[in-house]
Amino acid sequence: MPSIDDALSAATKRLQALSDSPKLDAQVLMLHVLQRPRSYLFAWGDRPLSEQEYHDFTQLLGKRCAGHPVAHLTGVREFWSLPIMVNNSTLIPRPDTETLVEQALALALPDNARMLDLGTGTGAIALALASECPNWHIDALDASADAVALALKNKQNLGLSNVQIIHSDWFSALNDVTYDLIVSNPPYIDAADPHLQQGDVRFEPLSALVAAQQGLADIEHIIIHAKAFLARPGVLMFEHGYEQGAAVRQLFTEHGYINARTERDLGDNDRITLADLVPGCA
Ligand SMILES: C[S@@+](CC[C@H](N)C(=O)[O-])C[C@H]1O[C@@H](n2cnc3c(N)ncnc32)[C@H](O)[C@@H]1O
Repeated sequence: MPSIDDALSAATKRLQALSDSPKLDAQVLMLHVLQRPRSYLFAWGDRPLSEQEYHDFTQLLGKRCAGHPVAHLTGVREFWSLPIMVNNSTLIPRPDTETLVEQALALALPDNARMLDLGTGTGAIALALASECPNWHIDALDASADAVALALKNKQNLGLSNVQIIHSDWFSALNDVTYDLIVSNPPYIDAADPHLQQGDVRFEPLSALVAAQQGLADIEHIIIHAKAFLARPGVLMFEHGYEQGAAVRQLFTEHGYINARTERDLGDNDRITLADLVPGCA
């Protein structure tokens, strides 16, 4: 059997044409097979793989070469330093979404703020904020029953008791409740966008990705209906596509919000737009 290092080199070569991060992909799959921390690769690189380990690694590598996302193969993705379980019911959390978490934490909110995460998927945003703000009361909802079950598992694994996971089509299951902050990373990709045929998104459900009106339909729906659920003052914050900042600010302004502003992600692209409702806003 090959050594760990030799298997990794061969795998990295195979993945070169298929992945933006061939070496990292190979290492993550190897660590998943070995069930060891990252440091193991450096200390034990010349150890031969067992027959079973080599078989399992080769199987995973074959699936990665067929395009399957690494996170679907390992069942986990790190988000905000939390291990978040993933499956094919919803989006795999992306590093750019950590910008939304940062922006939410930068707001001047009450210590015991009430917050809502719309389209929570794995629960990544809600759970990251819950881990940072144990006194916040967080509701997190999704229309997909499978995503709700996954978010619930993540909440339980991480032991974060200040989050309530709710099955709901946007606001429909909510009654008589207002929030200081509502956040959402909703579906925002246009159905004709060629990126839908590339990379990990091919393995993620369209219900998590695609929205009508050039990707803006869910954002507009939320902007309109959030008004009944936001405190005054209250903040509504979205993640959106890198070319949608101006359109989202315009929707906010058309619907009576103030201070619409856009923030950039790690790659310096427009990514987060937020706006306020204050006393007197209709
Ligand atoms: C882009 S994913 C975001 C997932 C997660 N918040 C994240 O940032 O990784 C959008 C999520 O919105 C959910 N969704 C789509 N339509 C919805 C609706 N009408 N009501 C509630 N959730 C919805 C999808 O099931 C999906 O989990």
